[in-house]
Amino acid sequence: MSKDSESKKISRRNFLGKAGTGIVGSSILISSIGAADKSGTDLAETSPIDPKETDILQFWVNGKLQKLRINPSATLAEILRDKLNLTGTKIVCNQGACGGCTVVMDNKAVYACHMLALDAAGKKVITIEGLLEGEELHHLQEAFVEKDGLQCGFCTPGQIMSAYALLLSKPKPNRDDVIEAMSGNICRCGAYPKILDSVLLAAQNKN
Ligand code: FES
Ligand code: FES
Repeated sequence: MSKDSESKKISRRNFLGKAGTGIVGSSILISSIGAADKSGTDLAETSPIDPKETDILQFWVNGKLQKLRINPSATLAEILRDKLNLTGTKIVCNQGACGGCTVVMDNKAVYACHMLALDAAGKKVITIEGLLEGEELHHLQEAFVEKDGLQCGFCTPGQIMSAYALLLSKPKPNRDDVIEAMSGNICRCGAYPKILDSVLLAAQNKN
């Protein structure tokens, strides 16, 4: 990371402070960048018993093993949001068409609204909350702030998670690589040029 970008490194605390002074003025944005609370709760054996929750799902979420009693028809997005309180994963179209619910599973971007949670059994899932490095934003999150890669912020968690998967497989992507990797993420605000710049900046800062 360059000295310049180091000096601009934004901690979660600083980011929240700036949000409060109007640089980013909405709680949606804070959640979108991924500064919402992390869930570290294992709800497995303590959840009240719902007769529809007939199955047990065991998987890794943001580095923590989770064992949950679930309805077998629940999607991964529903379980992340409703059982683990990881609401940074947005349900937007809920039909696998917009990428708003993108998370990374075993190093690949997936639409969490479009798969059964049971299909995540034994897998490693990373959500936007999992990118935080202690109190520090991930360099991708910093780049989105620095390049202003969002407007309403609703698509941003999905955009960042697709970019995260891309950088895992290709740490030095070119512009076309980014466009292709992000093609499944729709931004209704049309912030595409700045989203693209954000991902390229993140790749540059990391390498
Ligand atoms: S909410 Fe999952 S793809 Fe749109
Ligand atoms: S920033 Fe509003 S939908 Fe993308």
